Amino acid sequence: MSMSVSGILQYLLLLLGSFFALALSLATALAQDSINVEFKNNGQTVSALPLDDLRTIAPAVSIKVFEAHEKAERIYRALPVRPVFDKVFGKGWENAQEIIFTSIDGYQPSIPVKKLLAHDAYFAFAHEDGTPFTLTNRLQNNEIVQLGPLYLVWDNIKSKELLDAGASDMPYQIKRIELKFVSPFPNMTLPAGSSAAAQRGFMHFRQHCMACHTINGEGGGKAPELNYPVSVTEYIKPEYLKRWIMSPQSIRYNTTMPGLTGAILLDRETATEELIAYLKAMSNAKRVPANP
Ligand code: HEC
Repeated sequence: MSMSVSGILQYLLLLLGSFFALALSLATALAQDSINVEFKNNGQTVSALPLDDLRTIAPAVSIKVFEAHEKAERIYRALPVRPVFDKVFGKGWENAQEIIFTSIDGYQPSIPVKKLLAHDAYFAFAHEDGTPFTLTNRLQNNEIVQLGPLYLVWDNIKSKELLDAGASDMPYQIKRIELKFVSPFPNMTLPAGSSAAAQRGFMHFRQHCMACHTINGEGGGKAPELNYPVSVTEYIKPEYLKRWIMSPQSIRYNTTMPGLTGAILLDRETATEELIAYLKAMSNAKRVPANP
């Protein structure tokens, strides 16, 4: 008899627990949908709009994309990026060099304007099928992540180039969008006269690493600084550094860092060596971060 009483109690507790978990995830989803997305132009705030206002700018469409975080096709409800930018920034945005997207979780890719003009990008705000606006990030230890308020996706199914780029230019939880008319990363650039391998490594770093990591304080705030004051090439054994970049989970099973995999067509090992050449060259170019 006492068994069933405690059984019922346990059951009630379980119910209560799942109720709170559900309430919590609903609350975060709602909170993320109601935040204003900030639009900046070289440091100045141009406007800050909630999703509902953004949705009045352009008609929403349904767009099917290859979802690089889930390695499957998905259909999103979304706003085309260019009319949104035309309206918020004015046509002049097309003359900027880069656009920096900042996510709630610190992810911060910088995307060349050229890429946004050459390909169709969309701000997704919901799944077509009405399920909660989340995904299971297979690149990040299968973490379930909120996507709102905005999630940048590309019409990538027929583009080899976009498929190769993988998830690197697909920030979710976008809270800030900033135009840059001058090259925004002076502290991350290589010293003059660096090797061709290091220069190719810098391109890989920009595409695959800097949205999460900083070099001399520049880049994303989602993962540790890699160069200042001590470079990872100085305290991680070379063979482990290479292995870490190619498959971090083979060193730390629960890391959320994605390995340099999949979408990269060229030889992964060469790409990794070039990345390390870049990191080594930067260890001789330490610059005090702006906000250390
Ligand atoms: C999605 C975010 C993300 C991306 C992209 C990413 N990393 Fe990481 N990285 C992390 C996180 C988080 C850590 C912290 C260690 C952990 O989680 O176990 C880390 C740790 C590291 C470390 C170890 C630092 C230390 O002191 O322990 C190195 C080296 C590193 N990353 C290099 C890279 C390189 C090179 C790339 C690009 C090929 C890259 N990372 C791409 C998230 C990322």
